[in-house]
Amino acid sequence: MQIIRGFRDILPENIKLWQKVEKEAKKLFKDFGFDEIRLPILEKTEVFARSIGEATDIVEKEMYTFPDRKGDKLTLRPEATASMVRAYVQHKMYASDPVRKFYTIGPMFRRERPQKGRYRQFYQIDAEIFGVAAPYVDANLIFLLNELFKRLGLSDLKAHINSLGCPECRPDFQKALLKLLESKKTELCADCLRRKDSNPLRTLDCKVPQCKEALKDAPTNLDFLCKECQDHFNIVKKTLKKQKVEFIEDKTLVRGLDYYTRTAFEIQTTSLGAQSAVAGGGRYDLLVKEMGGPDIPAIGFAIGFDRLVQVMETLNKSVDDQELDLFIIALGDSAIEEGYHWSTDLNLQGIRTEIDYRGKSLKSLMKRADKLCAKHVLIAGRKEIKENPLVLRNMNTREQISISSDNPVADIVEFLKKNN
Ligand code: HAM
Repeated sequence: MQIIRGFRDILPENIKLWQKVEKEAKKLFKDFGFDEIRLPILEKTEVFARSIGEATDIVEKEMYTFPDRKGDKLTLRPEATASMVRAYVQHKMYASDPVRKFYTIGPMFRRERPQKGRYRQFYQIDAEIFGVAAPYVDANLIFLLNELFKRLGLSDLKAHINSLGCPECRPDFQKALLKLLESKKTELCADCLRRKDSNPLRTLDCKVPQCKEALKDAPTNLDFLCKECQDHFNIVKKTLKKQKVEFIEDKTLVRGLDYYTRTAFEIQTTSLGAQSAVAGGGRYDLLVKEMGGPDIPAIGFAIGFDRLVQVMETLNKSVDDQELDLFIIALGDSAIEEGYHWSTDLNLQGIRTEIDYRGKSLKSLMKRADKLCAKHVLIAGRKEIKENPLVLRNMNTREQISISSDNPVADIVEFLKKNN
């Protein structure tokens, strides 16, 4: 039997980088005041369709949607923001304090064409801040992302930032864009012709060379920002500069979800081919209200966990192999029986210990200790266990001691502590 196309097993030999990223991210979230929230993987389809936008690629063609037995239309979440807003509104979290910061980590599902860095089940590390309109939180989220990547040793990542305006200034921009699209009708691909009517902004993101050429001088949101949006964007940029976060002002950045207002950003890499965005996010000041809540601004980002790990792999970022503290070589049944209890006691004391139960020879068990990179071995001989001292050896220094088999755990712990 084979796994579904676009889905992946993340095997134990690859998990260490995932754990490292998760550990660093959780530490930063804690220090920056984010609480964890866990959300369901299935939601009613409308949760995503209404927020992400009916005319987006995600909602039009990428969602895993199906009726359940009663006919309710359900969707495997393609992203976390919509569920986050649904939960914030449903539980009236704003009532006690509208300012809330959440993060969540988990799988998302999009039925895209699989390729390197693009999967049908992928993982996101998602963070959202509700209730703050100030541009400082926009800068703060980009700063946080930058800091996380720095701590993970990644330096080739660049923040691209743009402003997508607000309902005040966006109509003027859209009018100008539509005018251009009408005049270039004969040069656009079939998809862009369709987008012209359903979601014109997405034409600016088209990868077809002919469209890129036709739209190279297209108007952008930045040309039309109202004073409030312009001031907001200026403070974001000024703050980032002051914090020494490098960024590129990228007026072609439009993002693939409809809910954004004002600041939008992506962290991009050159090491993953076409799938250059390792993280993306932005402000969505209208969404809480659109989803039935009060008028509360919000902003967030999601890191593509799979892509981030892939970037680390291409840069040969590895995590030191966790070595085995102790391998017990138990020769004979009574040594195996005692050894079982010693190893469990040691595990409980935080000492990574393994024992082999197969009754193999000393030589083959020494080989296994090497294979497992054991830092120490304990040899319990074949003769009557009570009469024989045990040998505890440091495999690096070759130093060894004899210990009594009466109650060896305390001696082992002491020796390992001294030798670590
Ligand atoms: P997004 O740009 O659609 O934004 O996804 C965020 C990140 O998820 C992308 O930059 C990418 O790294 C990763 N990603 C997306 N699709 C795939 C895929 N098929 N395979 C592997 N990785 C993928 C959002 O999802 C928004 N909810 C972000 C956000 C949070 N905006 C505000 N708050």
